[in-house]
Parts: sequence; structure tokens; C-alpha cells
Amino acid sequence: MTKNYIFSNHDTVKLAKKYGTPLYAISEDIIRDNANGIIEAFDKQNIDYEINYAGKAFLNMTMCKIINDLGLSLDVVSGGELFTAYEAGFPMNKVCLHGSNKSISEMKMAIEYNVGKIVVDSEYELKLLNDLCKKAKTKKNVFLRVSPGIEAHTHEYVQTGRVDSKFGIPLKLVKSLFEDNKDLEFVNIIGLHCHIGSQIYDERPFLITSAIMLDLMKELKANGHIINELNLGGGFGIPYLKDDSIFEIEIYLDKLLEAVRNKCKENGLDIPKLIVEPGRYIIGTAGITLYEVGTIKEIPHTRKYVSVDGGMADNPRPALYNALHHAIVANKVNFSEEDEELVTISGKCCETDTLISDILLPNPVAGDILAVLNTGAYNYSMASNYNRLPKPAVVLLKGDKDEVIVERETYEDIVSKDRVPSWYK
Ligand code: LLP
Repeated sequence: MTKNYIFSNHDTVKLAKKYGTPLYAISEDIIRDNANGIIEAFDKQNIDYEINYAGKAFLNMTMCKIINDLGLSLDVVSGGELFTAYEAGFPMNKVCLHGSNKSISEMKMAIEYNVGKIVVDSEYELKLLNDLCKKAKTKKNVFLRVSPGIEAHTHEYVQTGRVDSKFGIPLKLVKSLFEDNKDLEFVNIIGLHCHIGSQIYDERPFLITSAIMLDLMKELKANGHIINELNLGGGFGIPYLKDDSIFEIEIYLDKLLEAVRNKCKENGLDIPKLIVEPGRYIIGTAGITLYEVGTIKEIPHTRKYVSVDGGMADNPRPALYNALHHAIVANKVNFSEEDEELVTISGKCCETDTLISDILLPNPVAGDILAVLNTGAYNYSMASNYNRLPKPAVVLLKGDKDEVIVERETYEDIVSKDRVPSWYK
């Protein structure tokens, strides 16, 4: 008897039948396990800390509720993410607004909602925020995002802390920025921030970065600027393929805290409050995408294309970053290896939107349900309507319960913002 793939206590073939495909299935239980793993690892360190979930990885009103219930803070990078948190009733004092080019209206919105912190990305923004706060007769706690000049070993498109980067204030300019702006009365610089990239497995670049930031804090202290909080960003990697390494958060924190304690001692600093802002690590392994297999084409002596009913519109990662994902045929999990054949999974978009090249799958045929694994992060949040495809539904799994948390878009949704000019009416 063939068996179906069970994900988070749910038969995925039944989920596909019940909700249709393509479908994002997100496990609240796995989100909680992932987040609790980080919380427990920090608790062991006996330091002041904060975990900001990076909403860009996956955000909607339900995710805000889960994050709040877990006791985490939330990092938002746009008015849209901020509005989502506000509408979900997320405590605004636990929200941190990021962004490398925040608009004036986004900053005003953050002031009006009274968010806890704003991470300032440039001197221009610092001055602008000061003016806006002055007009609103308020003062804001801010972090300065520093570009520490570190290149983490990951795809170059997601390295964000190296010298040549649009993000943050170059390390060399931070001291003068403090000096030149010490009279700003409506911004209170309480912390420094840095983020060196995403999908990093190796803890070394984080350790080097922490040393760079603590040296900077020493120099700032010498000039009379005491910084009490240090945000080291997100970026913890997750395994996408069977043999990928796992980022061991406990080991990382042991090494990080040893390095931080030593450096603080050497630099005559108190241990700052440490903040991290993981996105992928919390949500990545908690999601899968279910597709139905359609057309299968064998190109003689070349390859076999297995097409699914989604593609780069619901998962742009392979097209954007050559990202690799693993998949299984959900209705054939116990097929023997002899039935496996090497195929390429392609999407339905009108270009070569390969989702996975060269994967061994058990004799895929039209009607099979394909589960692409670990698609929780940066899939739903980066989905588009390319080819006017409606975005898939998101269903949340908890224990044996399953409920839609984002409805599938309809064709009516697709045209709902279209306006026809008067001369065609
Ligand atoms: N903090 C900052 C300032 C960031 O820019 C990011 C991610 C994070 C935290 C969270 O990083 P995470 O823990 O999720 O790695 N779309 C790409 C990833 C872009 C990451 C952008 N910044 C992908 O699909 O791989």
C-alpha cells in the first residue's frame, strides 16, 4: 500500500485535496519548536537578550499572533509589515522598524504607532527622523545600522554587511557621525546594529563581527557615547538539502558569549544587551509547498521535465539565487529506490522556471502531489502574480487542526486594482 507524506501530523495529500494546490502549509508546532530552541539557548547564557523575529521571511496577521504568543519582538521593514503588526494587535513597543530607505510616511507611521525602536540606516535618515520626532513632540530610541565590512560565506545577493553595500553606515564613518550629530535632541541612540547576510552556517563571521562592533563601542565610549545594546542581526542557516549542515544555535551562542565576554573585558565594557533577528531559522523548516503534477515531457537523451501547477511566482528563490530545495512525491513516500528516476521539476510560468533540477523521484505521473520542503521562509513573502497567477492559500497546521490563514487569491482579486481609463469606456 502506498503511503502519504505526513507533515506536522497532517496527511499532505488530504491537505492538497481539501484546500487545492499550490498550497503553502505552515506548521505552528515547528515554528514554536524553532523559536523555543533559540529562547532556551539564550536563557542558558544568563544575559539580557531580545529575539526579534524578522517579519520579511513570512508575515501575516496570524504570524504576528504566534510571534507575540512566543514572547518575541518583531522586526518590520516597511509600512505594510508595520500595518500588518498593528492590525494584528501586536504590542507596538516590541516592534522595531528597519529599512534601508524608509519613506517619510513610514517613519511618521512608526512615530504615530509609537514603535519601540527604529534602526536608522544613514545620517540623512537620522536627521530626518529627528525632525519628524521634533514635529511630533516625541523622542525615539534608535539603533544605528553599521556596515561592518564582513563577507559571510553565502550567496552574494544576500550578503549585506560587506564594505560595498547599500546597507548601513560604513564602519569608518560611525564615529564622526556620532560627533557631528550629538546635538540631535529627539533621537536617542541606544544601540548599534549589524547584519552580515542570510543562510549562514558558519558561526565564525558572526564572532568576527561581534569583535568589530565591540571595538567600535569602545571607541565610542572613549568619546563619551555609551551604547548599551548590540543587535547582531539574523542570518542563521537552515538545511535545504538532506546533507546540508545545521546551524547549532546553542554552540553558536556558547562561542559568541565567550567571545563577547572576553572582548568586553578587554575593552572595559559592560556586556551589552544582545539582540538577534532571525527570520528563516524560525519559519523556514516550518513550511512546505504542495503542488499537483501536470504535464510530463521526456526530451530524448536530455531530461524529463515534470511540471507542477506553481513555480517562480510562488517560489522565486531558485530563479533568483539558484537556491536548492528538496522535494518528495507526497502520495508515494514508500516507493522503492528502483522506481526512482532523475527528473527536473519545472513551474508553469512562461519562462524556464526550474524549481529543482535533477532530483530522484519515484516515477512521477500527472495527478501526483509534490511536496517541496522547507519553503516557509521567503516564499509566501516573496510571491508575485507573475503571469497573473493568483497567489496560493496559506494553511496553518497545529496539532491535528488545520485552518486557512491567508485565502487563495481569485481571478477577481487579480483584476480588482485594474482601472480602465475613460477613453476606453
Ligand atoms: N535582519 C536584517 C537586517 C535582514 O536584512 C535580514 C534578512 C534578517 C534580519 C533576517 O535574515 P534571516 O535570519 O531570515 O536569514 N530572500 C532571501 C533572503 C534575504 C534576506 C534579507 N535580509 C532568500 O530567500 O534567501
